[in-house]
Amino acid sequence: MASSRRRHHFFTHGRWLIPAITVASVFLLLFFFLSILAPSPNGNRIFLLTRRDSSGENDDAIEDSPLLVPAKEKVNNREMWSSRNSNLFYGCSDASNKFRKAQDITHPNRYLSIVTNGGLNQQRTGITDAVVAARVLNATLVVPKLDKSSYWKDSSIFSDIFDVDWFIKYLAKDVTVVKELPLRKGQIWLPYRMRVPRKCSDRCYIHRVLPVLKKKHAVQIMKFDYRLANSLDTDFQKLRCRVNYHALKFVDPILRMGEKLVQRMRMKSKHFIALHLRMLLWRGR
Ligand SMILES: *[C@@H]1O[C@H](CO)[C@@H](O)[C@H](O)[C@H]1NC(C)=O
Repeated sequence: MASSRRRHHFFTHGRWLIPAITVASVFLLLFFFLSILAPSPNGNRIFLLTRRDSSGENDDAIEDSPLLVPAKEKVNNREMWSSRNSNLFYGCSDASNKFRKAQDITHPNRYLSIVTNGGLNQQRTGITDAVVAARVLNATLVVPKLDKSSYWKDSSIFSDIFDVDWFIKYLAKDVTVVKELPLRKGQIWLPYRMRVPRKCSDRCYIHRVLPVLKKKHAVQIMKFDYRLANSLDTDFQKLRCRVNYHALKFVDPILRMGEKLVQRMRMKSKHFIALHLRMLLWRGR
């Protein structure tokens, strides 16, 4: 009772906060992922110290060194994101030769639609997993519907946030994606709605969704966020990477806004801390 009154209070008086926090969260998440993907600036140093230590030549090397503090090593803004080993990293999200083209496996009468759930990051995970779920089911994916009500009260649709034509084109070889369900007998086709458990494996999709899809031909899975298992075939995992890191691109106005924010931050200082403001209003299931 008390908590629902507080929530009501938040949504009535704090409405302006939501767009502000959405935009802030997008950039904070971006920084967060960059910081995860970037190798530690001290990585090489630790490696060298360990190696010297294990060779037994200089046993007190670790004690003598101010470990982890790159003394006299100038780490400026740019260098921080690279290391001596960075040139050994390479992309590996391309499909293997075994992975067949979407045109060869897509059934003409199987449409998967999803409605995402949660905050922007959760919705992004949902979109990524939906592409793979459609591929598992040999179905055509309808461009995902964003969650407009459960959390953000944001009326944006997919194409307001992501470049939808790029999304469709980039994934064409993997999954056929259409903007809308086709008409059925000249009428708007309402897909059959259902839900799947969290982290449903590919076998789980085949057991639970495939029979319904074969019967109804168009299925919409609701509350779609983390609805696909983490352990999947390598080719499905790679497809996840292609979706998340290549197919999902923000639209130009968002990219421009991001650049502007980064420029302004750079004008103020050389160093930043990324903070992920979690809201305690989580109501997802
Ligand atoms: C999808 O198509 C492939 C290739 O034809 C087939 O091996 C697989 O069993 C199909 N899966 C489903 C769920 O229809």
